[in-house]
Amino acid sequence: ATSAALAQTSTFFDRQGHRGGRGLMPENTIPAMRRALDLGVTTLEMDVLISQDGQVLLSHDPTMNPDYALTPAGQRITKAEQDQHRLYALPYATIRRYDVGSQGNSHFPRQQKMLAYKPLLAEVIDSVEAYARRKKLPAPHYNIETKTTPAGDGTLHPAPAEFVAKLLAVVREKGVGPRVIVQSFDPRTLELVHQAEPTWRTALLVANTDGLEANLRRLSFRPSIYSPQHQLVTPQLVQASHAQGLRLIPWTVNSAADIQRLTRLGVDGIITDYPDLFAEVLNRR
Ligand code: G3P
Ligand code: CA
Repeated sequence: ATSAALAQTSTFFDRQGHRGGRGLMPENTIPAMRRALDLGVTTLEMDVLISQDGQVLLSHDPTMNPDYALTPAGQRITKAEQDQHRLYALPYATIRRYDVGSQGNSHFPRQQKMLAYKPLLAEVIDSVEAYARRKKLPAPHYNIETKTTPAGDGTLHPAPAEFVAKLLAVVREKGVGPRVIVQSFDPRTLELVHQAEPTWRTALLVANTDGLEANLRRLSFRPSIYSPQHQLVTPQLVQASHAQGLRLIPWTVNSAADIQRLTRLGVDGIITDYPDLFAEVLNRR
């Protein structure tokens, strides 16, 4: 089966590297994505935002992160200064001059320290597609999270229609739609993606305790994937998701014991910061 077709089959267990795999490499960077592919990841999880000049780039946070980002002058950013470094207020050429890798990340002591920048989505796709071809690895899937929030519309990111239009343009241009999942906590962006591209996969992200039915009611259609915080997964949720025809892919599962427990419960994939755990846990199943 082709990689795209494989993703639709029920036996496909989706190994996802969270932000590429930030336990090992600077998050949401090209080196993280490449490392994840080396470790057998099937889907690259990543977050996207829009710069002031309308470019789609990888970033989890709407501002430069004081925990690890360095300004183009090589200076740390304090929490008080964070708002002066909002991505939606900066042209991409400026964003690219910040270093987001050489300080490491104290929450992830195994993360490799290296000079790194926030890449464009288009160049990430070009780079990992070429890398996979060169290394004769399966073509990667992309789980792209739209970082939209009603409270951030027009200040931290464009309103959803503009955000989604820009994302769709990049994915269409690169021709990877059949290998893309668009994920969001914000049902508005999932609705827009589904209207524009009804065959693309979508994932509803959930961190609340409202339950499956209530969360699905926030959408006018059924997404392909239900993606809860991993502590919310119970045998009942696995059963109910599958009964609805949904695949269940929890985040962010960072211990071998949790990966094993969830896999035994029957989840359809795992999103982890430590993609090296997959080989350790799943290959000995
Ligand atoms: O894939 C879901 C997960 O990435 C959501 O959490 O905050 O890491 O983007 P966050
Ligand atoms: Ca994410």
